[in-house]
Amino acid sequence: QNAIYNAGLSGVIPKLPVDYATLEQRASAAMPPSVLGYVQGGCGDEFTQDNNAHAFRHWGMTPRMMVDCSRRDLSVELFGMRLPSPVFMAPVGVIGICTQDGHGDLAAARASAETGVPLMASTLSNDPLESVAGALGETPGFFQLYTPKDKALAESLVRRAEAAGYKGIVVTLDTWVTGWRPRDLNVANFPQLRGAVLMNYFSDPVFRAMLAKPPEEDGAAAVRQWAGVFGKVLTWDDMAWLRSLTTLPLILKGICHPDDARRAIDAGADAIYCSNHGGRQANGGIAAIDMLPGVVAAAGDVPVLFDSGIRSGSDVVKAIALGARAVGVGRPYAYGLALDGAAGAAHVLRCLLAEADLLMAVNGWPTIADVRAAGAVRI
Ligand code: FNR
Repeated sequence: QNAIYNAGLSGVIPKLPVDYATLEQRASAAMPPSVLGYVQGGCGDEFTQDNNAHAFRHWGMTPRMMVDCSRRDLSVELFGMRLPSPVFMAPVGVIGICTQDGHGDLAAARASAETGVPLMASTLSNDPLESVAGALGETPGFFQLYTPKDKALAESLVRRAEAAGYKGIVVTLDTWVTGWRPRDLNVANFPQLRGAVLMNYFSDPVFRAMLAKPPEEDGAAAVRQWAGVFGKVLTWDDMAWLRSLTTLPLILKGICHPDDARRAIDAGADAIYCSNHGGRQANGGIAAIDMLPGVVAAAGDVPVLFDSGIRSGSDVVKAIALGARAVGVGRPYAYGLALDGAAGAAHVLRCLLAEADLLMAVNGWPTIADVRAAGAVRI
């Protein structure tokens, strides 16, 4: 418990920063401009992205005294599994390019194995989903699906994820097209179009059958084919089909409106994932954390996952207090990877957890259930 802080007090200062501002600053200096622009950037003038983080400041929590918090339990239950903490790594596509060897997906998976923090593996990865699953160790992983237009291809990706041992399928609803992200254009180097990040497609039998020549022989044609099939326009009419894809827990990512949460649950979703994609898709203004309470109220007993703007352990605790079952981070662990690979991502996750743990200790909340019961108020 709080080994990082206590070691620091006795002079063992961590190699990497322990706060987000310094982490981002150090990562910005270390990353090539195109990679940094891709990770750090958001939609439009990035107002929503900035607001995601700033909005945590107008939620507050009241400490309680005289509670024995000498032992804390951060574990949560999700889909019948006991997770050591409520934190997970949100899916980050193209994360391969965050490490110098181009295998950031594998490094993230190793950080997951090391910390017990689950990884949601993106469809857009540098390494096939089977290799990523193989590096997760004992930690449960989830597969995030960007639903291709071709249904057989979507089904193939899900079958592979099941066979590889992932514990749930996260369908991202908000990205059938990419939002208006000026930084991607300004650096003239939109990394998603690099063939290397399409390994889940290139290794897929259904995708390969669509090609005249295998991707190893004609990469350009394979990328063109990928661009043609990526991004099915999903509507509520597709829900029955999505549900039929798997018996694994089905998690719908990108839901911010209470009515959408209700509709998704009625149609068989096992969890709602409230997120505005870290402000990368719609520059709509409202911070994700401000939309969380409405979604939680609509979801009833169905678990709500949350991300967008989590920068500290206190943000983690606030999101739990506002009703999230588990909380994801995107950019923070991407910066950790950029600075020191798997060890860097693990460090970032450990700092988040250490701060959350310490906050629970001083606020009189020994368990996550206590955090949830305490709630947070708008200030
Ligand atoms: C993302 N996100 C994302 N989401 C998803 O469902 N599939 C994906 O492939 C990606 N790719 C991706 C790339 C990069 C560089 C970022 C920063 C984000 C969104 C991600 O899962 C998550 O919603 C946000 O990152 C959360 O916001 P923060 O923590 O970055 O503020």
